Amino acid sequence: MTDEPITLQIDGDEVSVPRGATLLDAAEQAGIDIPVICYHEATTPNGLCRICVVDVDDGRVLQPACVAECQADSKVRTRNDRVERSRRTILEMLNASVNLEQAPEIQGMMADYEADQTRFPDARRREAEVIDDNPFYVRDYEQCVLCWRCVQVCAEDAQFTFALTLKERGHETSVATAYDIGMTESPCVFCGQCIGVCPTGALKPKMEWGMEQGWTAEELRRNTRRARKREGGGDGD
Ligand code: SF4
Ligand code: FES
Repeated sequence: MTDEPITLQIDGDEVSVPRGATLLDAAEQAGIDIPVICYHEATTPNGLCRICVVDVDDGRVLQPACVAECQADSKVRTRNDRVERSRRTILEMLNASVNLEQAPEIQGMMADYEADQTRFPDARRREAEVIDDNPFYVRDYEQCVLCWRCVQVCAEDAQFTFALTLKERGHETSVATAYDIGMTESPCVFCGQCIGVCPTGALKPKMEWGMEQGWTAEELRRNTRRARKREGGGDGD
């Protein structure tokens, strides 16, 4: 009995899904696109960003589709006024505090939901220096939306390296190495998986970043070699 599929309605269409399927799974099966930011197919969903919220049976609160399981006979609306307003506000708040210039998917959502880029003019913006502490990639946490994907792929979802964690609280929360040590002193093996799942420009290969900075071919070669760092050679300026 327990493995019998359950049936629900999504935007008026009936869908049957395996028990335990999320609303995001069901929407995908129905060919309906729901925006996501913290969710990634390679990571365990945690329901952090709330951009994927949907309306289930006109419930008191909207449900995050990436973690909420389908309930039999429920009626789900993936994009009504409530849902749009909620997504728009999340995007406006994100945009007010984080540099999203290099986050094309989120930019697309902002256009789609007609987010007002001037709605929270007094919001405190995330401020951070670019961290250039290794030859392989740089970290610019002014562009970080705290989706947690990098921390997850570095941990149990893929690499089991545990080089990344979170530090501080509230607005000061940021991704960091444990005790904020340099990346080359951390357990990081420079697999690049964190860069692969980052939805913004917060994590970037050093080569790409160097080209953006206008480095010469010689500077690119010199600054992206591990040996130079071991010799304490700095970043090649
Ligand atoms: S650095 Fe990128 S992947 Fe990591 S939490 Fe920030 S936005 Fe997400
Ligand atoms: S994508 Fe579902 S909560 Fe972030």
